[in-house]
Amino acid sequence: MSSRRVAHDVVIVGGGVIGLSVGWRAAAAGLRVAVIDPRPGAGASRVAGGMLAAVNEVQYGEQPLLALSLASAARYPSFIDELEAVTGRPTEYRATGTLAVALDADDRAALRELHTFQTSLGLAAQWLSGRECRSLEPMLAPGVTGGLLVAGDHQVDNRALTAALITAVEAAGGTLWRARVTEFRVLGDRVVGVRLDDDEVLAAGQVVLAAGSWSGEVAGLPDRAVPPVRPVKGQILRLRLPAGHPGLLARTVRGTTRGSHVYLVPRANGEVVVGATAEEQGFDTGVTAGGVYQLLRDAHDLVPGVTELTLAECDAGLRPGTPDNAPILGPGPLAGLVYATGHHRNGILLAPVTADAVAGYLVEGVLPDVAAPFTLDRLVDARAET
Ligand code: GLY
Repeated sequence: MSSRRVAHDVVIVGGGVIGLSVGWRAAAAGLRVAVIDPRPGAGASRVAGGMLAAVNEVQYGEQPLLALSLASAARYPSFIDELEAVTGRPTEYRATGTLAVALDADDRAALRELHTFQTSLGLAAQWLSGRECRSLEPMLAPGVTGGLLVAGDHQVDNRALTAALITAVEAAGGTLWRARVTEFRVLGDRVVGVRLDDDEVLAAGQVVLAAGSWSGEVAGLPDRAVPPVRPVKGQILRLRLPAGHPGLLARTVRGTTRGSHVYLVPRANGEVVVGATAEEQGFDTGVTAGGVYQLLRDAHDLVPGVTELTLAECDAGLRPGTPDNAPILGPGPLAGLVYATGHHRNGILLAPVTADAVAGYLVEGVLPDVAAPFTLDRLVDARAET
C-alpha cells in the first residue's frame, strides 16, 4: 500500500482492454503508471466476442472510424507478437477471416449493398454463392443463399488478451490497483489526481479516463469535460463443443435474421461465442430469457447444428456508446486529463491503435493524425449546437 504514495506520471481510470493497453504501452515507454480498477478486465472486455470486424462493421457516414479501425487491425499481429513475447501468454489471435451470410432476399439485398459500399471504399470482400459459402462452412443452413467473405476480419480471445495485458502492465513496471476511483481532483483547469473509494488520494501528472460505460459517472469534472458515453447492453452466450464433436465452424460467421444481427465466433479451444443483443437499458446487466432465446434462435437459423453444443455461459456487458459511435481519444478541455473511452462495439479491435496513440500523447504531447478526428471537442461542439 505504501507505494500508493509514490508520485505517478500517469494514473489510468479503468482497467479494461483499453486502460490496460494504454497502461502497458505507457509503462513500456518509461512512465510511472498506475491502472486503477476494482476488477481489472471484468467488464465489457470480458463479455466481448473478440471479433476484429473492421470491414464487416463499416457503416455509412463512419469513414473516419473505418480509418482508425483499419489502422488498428493492421497493428494487431505485431501487438500480439510483442504481448505474447513479453508475457509468455497466448492470446489465441486467429487470422481466419469472417463470412457474412444471407438467408432471404432482403438479407441478400442488404449484404449486396454492404459489398458495394465496401468496394467503393477499396475494402477487400468477396461475394460467394450459397453453395460456395457451404463449401467453406459445411454446417451452414441449406437456406443460406449467398455471402460475403472478408478474409481480413479476424478474431482474438478477448479474455486471454486481457489476462496477457494485466501481466504486461506489471512486467513493464506499471502498478495495478484494485480500487474504484470516486472523484477527479481538479485544481483550476487542471486534473491533478484522483480520489479512491478508501478516500486515499493519488497525485498524477496526467490522468487517463478509460472507464468504459462508467466514464461519465466519476465525480469532480465540470460538465464540459464529462464525456457523453452511455451503456449499450449486449447479451452474449458461450457454447462448447461436446467431446468428440468434429467442430462447428472454421471462421466467424455472421448474418441478419428477423432484423437482428447475430455472430458466431469459433475458438481454437472448442468454444463458440454467440452474440449479441444491443439494448438501451441503462446500467442493467441482467440476462433475460428473451435475450438468450433471440440469440439461440438466430444462431440456429444460420447454423442449425448449434443446438448440439453445450450452453456454458450467458452473460451481458455494457458497450460504451457515444453519439457518433466513435471513441473519444486524447486531450480535452482540462489540462492533465486524457480520454481513451467510448469504444462502443470496437474496444477489442481498437485497443492497439488507442494504446499507441494515447501513450504517444502521454509521452510526446501530440496525438497522431489517425486519432486526431476523435477528440472530445467534436462532440461537445455538436452538443452546443443542438
Ligand atoms: N462488435 C460486436 C458487438 O458489439 O456485439
